[in-house]
Amino acid sequence: MKSLRTAVIGCGGIAQTHAEVLSTQATAQVVAYADVKLERAKALAKKYGGNAYGSMEELLDREQVDVVHLCTPHPLHTPMAQLAAEHGIHVFSEKPPAVNEAQWEAFAALENSRVRIGVCFQNRYNVGTQFLKDLLAIGKPGKLLGARAFVTWYRPAEYYTDSDWRGSLSTEGGGVLMNQSVHTLDLLCYFMGRATGVDASLSNHHLQGVIEVEDTFEARVDFDGRPAVFFATTGHVTDSPVLVELVCENATLRVEEPEVTVRWKDGSVEHHSLTVPVSPTTGKSYWGSSHGICIADFYDSILTGKPFRNDIPGIRNTAELLLAAYRSARNGQA
Ligand SMILES: NC(=O)c1ccc[n+]([C@@H]2O[C@H](COP(=O)([O-])OP(=O)(O)OC[C@H]3O[C@@H](n4cnc5c(N)ncnc54)[C@H](O)[C@@H]3O)[C@@H](O)[C@H]2O)c1
Repeated sequence: MKSLRTAVIGCGGIAQTHAEVLSTQATAQVVAYADVKLERAKALAKKYGGNAYGSMEELLDREQVDVVHLCTPHPLHTPMAQLAAEHGIHVFSEKPPAVNEAQWEAFAALENSRVRIGVCFQNRYNVGTQFLKDLLAIGKPGKLLGARAFVTWYRPAEYYTDSDWRGSLSTEGGGVLMNQSVHTLDLLCYFMGRATGVDASLSNHHLQGVIEVEDTFEARVDFDGRPAVFFATTGHVTDSPVLVELVCENATLRVEEPEVTVRWKDGSVEHHSLTVPVSPTTGKSYWGSSHGICIADFYDSILTGKPFRNDIPGIRNTAELLLAAYRSARNGQA
């Protein structure tokens, strides 16, 4: 199969996972890395091969690439995706695609460009998520009536004070929802479909005076008459597994990766301890371990022309719900 020429933009934490995944993938050949902290780009280039640059612009001037991976802070995803698309380059962007409505409008408009755009909501590829999707598709659980989702993680003050972008509204755009738990909001949309309303609130319980963004976010989301309750915090004592529970007519389906529990209406209970596929890099288990599968699927979709699960239409509901949830929380209105 053809190998696409790839560049990674932003060479901090998550770029390590992208670079490791790409180094094992036959459909990709990473030719260059860029970071404003040039030493970070050089470190990845030294480890995996390729050239290092101090900016995306310089890299695009000097290299012929087919795909870029955007591993930069959130507010840079949209402008960098636009720049890549102008150069006719496919984009695999880390989440979130956009931090405000104007950015989302610009990002969504890239659907009409000639390049493929994918967003890294890798948890859609997790084994437990797939198990529940397949079970729902068979129809035995019956109609989905509602859901609940909990993200209870820990981020200490240093997580923010050691970063030059996290914790500030202008450079992170939001806190626990925008950054950590947008994946779980995405899973609710992946299971429930299009959200039609949201009533939300946010607070900062444990890092007041340290961060401007929220450490806790709660919402009740209406999925066309079916409610979902959502709670996320980084004020817990540890990174507990994310819980998603789907209430259906004939069963309640619960996933805490990679464990799935199905409680049937007749009282019988099934437990499934699923096997996580071996991946070149599993990342941190509480993020979900599916970067490798998600990235491979994006390249496959470029090379075969098949639709990509996390393309712009595929993630539109999540991106719009994310921004609507912040509007509701900040304005105090559903
Ligand atoms: N999908 C996931 O599970 C997951 C996990 C972690 C992070 N992320 C996302 O990845 C993104 C980066 O997060 P991180 O934790 O790696 O942050 P990070 O701070 O560790 O890395 C970001 C890098 O981007 C570089 N950078 C900043 N401005 C730049 C510019 N203009 N041009 C080139 N490089 C620039 C920084 O110097 C830094 O090295 C965030 O949007 C985050 O939400 C996703």
